[in-house]
Amino acid sequence: MSSSRPGTVGTAVDRVDGPAKTTGGARYAAEFGYEGTAYAALTYATVTRGRITAMETKAAREVPGVVAVITHLDAPPLKPPPTPSPLRMETMATATSVNCLNTPEVHWNGQPIAVVVAESPEAARHAAELVETTYETLPFSADFAAEQDNAEPQKSSLLQHASGRKGDAEAALAAAPVGVDLRFTTPRHHHNALEPHATTAVWEDGRLTVHDSCQNVGWVRAHLAHRFGIPADDVRVVSPYVGGAFGGKTAVWPGTVLTALAARVTGRPVRMALSREGVYRATGGRQPSVQRLALGAERDGRLTALVHTSTAATGRVGGWAEQITSVARHLYDAENIHHQQHQVELDTISTTIIRAPGESIGSFALESAMDELAYELGMDPVEVRMRNEPEKNPIDGKPFAHRQLRECFEAGASAFGWSARTPEPRSMRERGWLVGWGTAAAYHPAWLMPANVTVRLDADGSVLVRCGFHELGMGAATAQGQIAADALDVPFEAVTVEYGDTQLPTGPGAGGSAQTASVARSLTAACEKLTKAVGTPREGESYAQVLARTGRDHAEASAGSDTRVGKAVGQVKFMARHFNDQRRWVRAASGAHFCEVRVDPDTGETRVSRWLAVFDAGRIVNTRTTASQLRGGIVMGLGLALTEQTLLDPRTGRIVNPSLSEYHVPVHADVPPIDVRCLDAPDPTMPLGVLGVGEVGITGVAAAVANALHHATGRRLYDLPLTLDKLL
Ligand code: MOS
Repeated sequence: MSSSRPGTVGTAVDRVDGPAKTTGGARYAAEFGYEGTAYAALTYATVTRGRITAMETKAAREVPGVVAVITHLDAPPLKPPPTPSPLRMETMATATSVNCLNTPEVHWNGQPIAVVVAESPEAARHAAELVETTYETLPFSADFAAEQDNAEPQKSSLLQHASGRKGDAEAALAAAPVGVDLRFTTPRHHHNALEPHATTAVWEDGRLTVHDSCQNVGWVRAHLAHRFGIPADDVRVVSPYVGGAFGGKTAVWPGTVLTALAARVTGRPVRMALSREGVYRATGGRQPSVQRLALGAERDGRLTALVHTSTAATGRVGGWAEQITSVARHLYDAENIHHQQHQVELDTISTTIIRAPGESIGSFALESAMDELAYELGMDPVEVRMRNEPEKNPIDGKPFAHRQLRECFEAGASAFGWSARTPEPRSMRERGWLVGWGTAAAYHPAWLMPANVTVRLDADGSVLVRCGFHELGMGAATAQGQIAADALDVPFEAVTVEYGDTQLPTGPGAGGSAQTASVARSLTAACEKLTKAVGTPREGESYAQVLARTGRDHAEASAGSDTRVGKAVGQVKFMARHFNDQRRWVRAASGAHFCEVRVDPDTGETRVSRWLAVFDAGRIVNTRTTASQLRGGIVMGLGLALTEQTLLDPRTGRIVNPSLSEYHVPVHADVPPIDVRCLDAPDPTMPLGVLGVGEVGITGVAAAVANALHHATGRRLYDLPLTLDKLL
């Protein structure tokens, strides 16, 4: 690589999508204006389990502007959703096994049972509420508390460890001179992306174009092609801008399929944006959990036993299990470890992944328990963690590819001023507030996904990068533009990045904090091929100038995994590499949170007043967008800690707070200044040394808050969210 220009990787390059977003030029899935567009809305079942015996749609049809009311009585047949299997990655797009509008059966309270198409969204929504449905109801169970004893041990899959054992943790626990044995609960959560799930669908000559707010255009294409029984090449999915997703737009929910179905039935372009209530009814959220976390230690603080077990609920019609106990495998060097996840199915909508699925709530239990253990030991919570910092992955002795958690704690404690903390609970006060300081570790595994990338360099010095990856608001296109600019020795402004479209080479979905590294791996490989093909520059010459001098107008190169829909060979090769990597190393981003809370001693009102976190996320591609991602994770963690819960009435199976007025996400007034720092040390085994920053920020946050609350008040809370009624 020629080095005539300072690199952009590691700097705070402005986001390429910033101007379009701030001026309203960015078009989201429900903003594509096709001639003759009609608008759709869903009718949701009001029973939890049953069979539809009659539907009266006359009143709905008579609403002025209504074009069609489609139910299971007249909907065209769709193929049932495929069973998810990690061996055919695109099948992971199945959100639920229910073939909505192709069955009279109802499997969850809120299941879409009709789609209404009208000339305006208002008419569609009004008419959708006028559909009258009669049901034969069937017995159900949606009561997690009542069913959790019926949970089954979960088996480890190709993608996650649901259990693990080293030594005899229970015996060591019983013999330990110091110990804690605690029970934690965490509620359901929803993602609450600013942009609701939305789709615009158009059929032309049997071919389907879909603008969808999603995290994986390739998966959406594969799912729709399967459901409608058409070749994948006849489906195009476009998703250039997504207004937040957090895992909630990874699987394909019924709204997307039914919008395409409505377009097919009416022969018109159809647009549907779910209402905020609709997001809760027709898309799934996080599993509720109950967790046992037990620690045994010697008096010097060395852990002898670590037990982490969890029980969580999925839907009977589908749901991704969160890796709640996986943190127990990695964080502390206990001599004896046992972790095991359990799962129970309920008659609810499928659960799904949501930012750091598993680690976010598993770390709440582990990192709260470490704090309580520190008090039992009479030691500083940072010191206890440092005494148990492992050299190798605790449960199986695999090497860490890279780990600087100790450095994160040292830098964080120093910058926060941790040494000024007085350990006694209720010992710090300021102007009537009880003040508490808390700390917790952050930890999230680093993944790589398949990605195919094409890069083109023109003799005029412009570069075009093409890959069907996703921009959910995190700065993905900017980061890849920086990587290409540096590799091809052009200014950042000369690079155009095309993404979010199935017409591009198949990219990874945005998920698992894996996108930046995954695309970077193929992008850097493609750039290397390209520069080799261009030839060696003379002194002071750029690659583009070499092209011009040698009479070529452009050069192009591709790299990737050859993973496309239906290309099983690429997926098998990719998986083989993945498992080989997993056998060799443990790879993860980690970090240390430090926070201050203030609690009103009379009302229990909790304010988080200060936050500082130091992360080891490998090499940082863009310092500004990275800090934003990590800060965003912490903000979402504040909601997890203090206010957020999806309330499902176990008697009716219905979610009773499906709105932002009753589901409380953090607002600006809830969020203090958040000081985010990164060590910026590349992981030698990851592309460019990148570990990913989408999810590590939220892990540990709830525990840090709980620990600070305990320090402020002397009360330790074990049940999220940490609301004031539990403090008083
Ligand atoms: Mo994330 S929960 O991997 O979108």
